[in-house]
Amino acid sequence: MTESSATFLLFGATGDLARRMIFPSLYNLLADGLLPDDFLIVASARSPMSDEGFRADVDAALRQFLASDRYDAETAATFGQMIVYQPVEAGKADQFTALAERIDGRLERGLSVYLSTPPSLFAPTAQGLAEAGLITPLTRIAMEKPIGKDLASSKEVNDGIGAMFAEEQIFRVDHYLGKETVQNLLALRFGNVMFEPLWNATAIDHVQITVGETVGLEGRVSYYDGVGALRDMVQNHMLQILSIIAMEPPARMDPTAVRDEKVKALRSLRPMTAETVKTHSVRGQYTPGAVGGQIVTGYADELGQPSDTETFVALKAHIDNWRWQGVPFYLRTGKRMPARQSEIMIQFKPVRHSIFGRDGHGTGLEPNTLIIRLQPEEYIRLLIMSKRPGLERQVLLDEVTLDVSLTAAFAGQRRRIAYERLILDLLAGDQTLFVRRDEVEAQWAWIDSIIGGWKDANMKPAAYSSGNWGPSSAIALIERDGASWHE
Ligand code: BG6
Repeated sequence: MTESSATFLLFGATGDLARRMIFPSLYNLLADGLLPDDFLIVASARSPMSDEGFRADVDAALRQFLASDRYDAETAATFGQMIVYQPVEAGKADQFTALAERIDGRLERGLSVYLSTPPSLFAPTAQGLAEAGLITPLTRIAMEKPIGKDLASSKEVNDGIGAMFAEEQIFRVDHYLGKETVQNLLALRFGNVMFEPLWNATAIDHVQITVGETVGLEGRVSYYDGVGALRDMVQNHMLQILSIIAMEPPARMDPTAVRDEKVKALRSLRPMTAETVKTHSVRGQYTPGAVGGQIVTGYADELGQPSDTETFVALKAHIDNWRWQGVPFYLRTGKRMPARQSEIMIQFKPVRHSIFGRDGHGTGLEPNTLIIRLQPEEYIRLLIMSKRPGLERQVLLDEVTLDVSLTAAFAGQRRRIAYERLILDLLAGDQTLFVRRDEVEAQWAWIDSIIGGWKDANMKPAAYSSGNWGPSSAIALIERDGASWHE
């Protein structure tokens, strides 16, 4: 691994993500002594602003978005002094020249560029950087989603960046990979002896992945409408989780080994068709209702017009490989759900032969379940069978839980913002937790098959009242198979 970049160049520095996540994360890294010596943050956006004016904005953002015990005036002042602001608009060569002057003499200590802008600006920004002489083998570039809206447009975005940077220099951000609980899936699967032998079609009946949000559009109308839950959440975050659950064991924890295995799993997803979307997918859109005791409006009211964009999606996915033959992966995600709740549920099969079931020898036997709660709580819970104490002649079985609260087990550890991990890895040049081009494309290939199926089958979103787990057809999707969503 190379030395950490000494300069961080952020495009989109006045945006929401920068204020909420990127600056607070950089601040936390500084406070923990994790930034390289003589670190410089060059912030850039379109509006003209002085260094001082911008520093004041960052300070306000830190006060608003840092955890309350983290803000320290002295550290914030030191942090402010690390930041300079340079207005830049894509296509304006003189502004890129001015930007290069800010970074003059520092390029040999590495430059990490972060694009927190609309994707239409990715290629022009890369072009501007190239013309200003800012791209060297020590320059890295990170980009936020969305990378395209389908396979073809994602290839265009990747080609645009790929013309200027080698794949080893490109860091595609999926912030779910920065979450401790998502990284912990690797530890759980590959750091323990007892799960892996059972992690396959012989022992597992099905897998559920749920990412529920209580929020609605949150003023993101112009981005969200026409995009919808499938592209916004499934294409990236949920498929990344699925790939980590489904992949073969990588030989080692390095970017090539891990991503090689993830992409194989993603490529094994069975494409959908106009026929299969009818039984394997549900689209929903929220209508007025109540979430957490609050009355909320419907999507179309927030938007101000009717729309065919889904705010909920449920899918039954198949991974056509040896390990997962016949094991459905049920995915669901939506806005205005009853709870903010993300989890993975592994439903094991029943024991091969029950010694309790017959002739009144016992009762209550249930298959085992493993629940991995990703957020807001962080725990791993295994439901196992146990004998109910007592002198009955029959063995009465009850489900008991083996419960590991990660919050309690690591009570002394500060919970990091996902972006802290990702920025640190970007600066260090470690791509393990970033998405490789072939992964993005495998994700889009599968998503395109669903979007194509919806179009051909003319499938529109079904209404669901806010505060519910999607339309009733989402319940039917899983109950047809004799299972039910874990709530
Ligand atoms: C983003 C989506 O990528 O992830 C948002 O665009 C969504 O619509 C968000 O709300 C969820 O992230 P988190 O970290 O709050 O689960």
